[in-house]
Amino acid sequence: MARKTKVAVLISGRGSNMEALVRAAKAEDCPFEIALVLANKPDAGGLAVAAEAGVEALCVDQKPFGKDREAHERAIDAALRQRGIEVIALAGYMRILTPFLVDAWEGRMLNIHPSLLPAYPGLDTHGRALTAGELEAGCTVHLVTAGVDEGPILGQARVPILPGDDDHTLAARVLEQEHRLYAATLAEFVRGL
Ligand code: GAR
Repeated sequence: MARKTKVAVLISGRGSNMEALVRAAKAEDCPFEIALVLANKPDAGGLAVAAEAGVEALCVDQKPFGKDREAHERAIDAALRQRGIEVIALAGYMRILTPFLVDAWEGRMLNIHPSLLPAYPGLDTHGRALTAGELEAGCTVHLVTAGVDEGPILGQARVPILPGDDDHTLAARVLEQEHRLYAATLAEFVRGL
């Protein structure tokens, strides 16, 4: 079996995208393995999901670091390097990064965002798209750069916005596509490294 690229998935919550990546990585021809799932909060539901799937699940709690986001990121970075991680996949990691982590992993850190970037970066993407009367929504996988939800786009998937949609129905339709898009885009990305 060919060597697989070691990926760490960073989460803050339930981790359904992380779970989709773990599932995809199980295929023999998948070019990446999920070597670590790391959360910034101990109550991130995805930690238990990862452990159950047999993946190392680690919490680097942000709390003891207070407002020193860079010190927190230095601890994360050390954990990643100890394990020989090669690529970071942010998957619902809801903390704004400092230039330290962004620069340290330039060209090797991906993010998924539930909108067709550059439209609707930030929070409440679905609510804002609905209020604006958009006919289409979707999700984007992109390389992480200094700006929030910016950086070169690696892949997008589109879904229609249907009459009667609210942010829950729309989020569910987009999430289904997120799970497919992230695994496919990450595989393509690591094949090109
Ligand atoms: C996903 O919809 C992801 O795109 C979004 O958070 C959700 C996490 O769900 N990320 C962002 O909004 C980043 N700006 P998950 O924990 O079930 O993967």
